[in-house]
Amino acid sequence: MDASDVGNDLENILLTQEQLETRLGEIAAQIDRDYAGKDLLLVGVLKGAIMVMADLARHLHHPVEMDWMAVSSYGSGTKSSGVVRILKDLDTDLSGRNVLVVEDIIDSGLTLSWLLSNLRSRGPASVEIASMLRKPDAAKVDVDVRYLGFDIPNEFVVGYGLDYAEKYRNLPFVGTLAPHVYSS
Ligand code: XMP
Ligand code: MG
Repeated sequence: MDASDVGNDLENILLTQEQLETRLGEIAAQIDRDYAGKDLLLVGVLKGAIMVMADLARHLHHPVEMDWMAVSSYGSGTKSSGVVRILKDLDTDLSGRNVLVVEDIIDSGLTLSWLLSNLRSRGPASVEIASMLRKPDAAKVDVDVRYLGFDIPNEFVVGYGLDYAEKYRNLPFVGTLAPHVYSS
């Protein structure tokens, strides 16, 4: 899928496929160095992180394992409340494991800070975060992102796993939507 497949739904392309690809390669090299000789479990947060997970994992030389969680944060509309429910838990026992949480985007940071304390309570050797995107509001909550793709402006974005009403996830880049998409 590409920009031409979604008519005039896009307002702006913030990050091209090439930019995402290049940055992921750099992050993967860093992860390969940091975890050399250590076990590593990638934990993807469904559904947004599917693209980052797939591309990051393929860039890595490290023989990782992958597992998935699905969480929902209660909140009104597009704002997260920090009250989180686990919809799908991990299949993996985390005790003694090095865990790297793979996320698409950190907005308020509330979801991730809840997730971190939840995962840390399971006795892992370490828990770190890799996120492709981060919005400025994330600074309000103390979430220590070890591997970050890009800081982006405080706008709603779609593509590369991110959706609006479950659509646009399979765009290979990150962009903003034209106003008519929201109002129709
Ligand atoms: P927090 O708790 O960090 O929530 O506020 C992060 C989650 O909110 C979703 N989110 C977005 N989804 N475009 C999207 O498609 C966005 O611009 C956006 N901002 C936040 C996303 O599910 C993320 O995991
Ligand atoms: Mg998410």
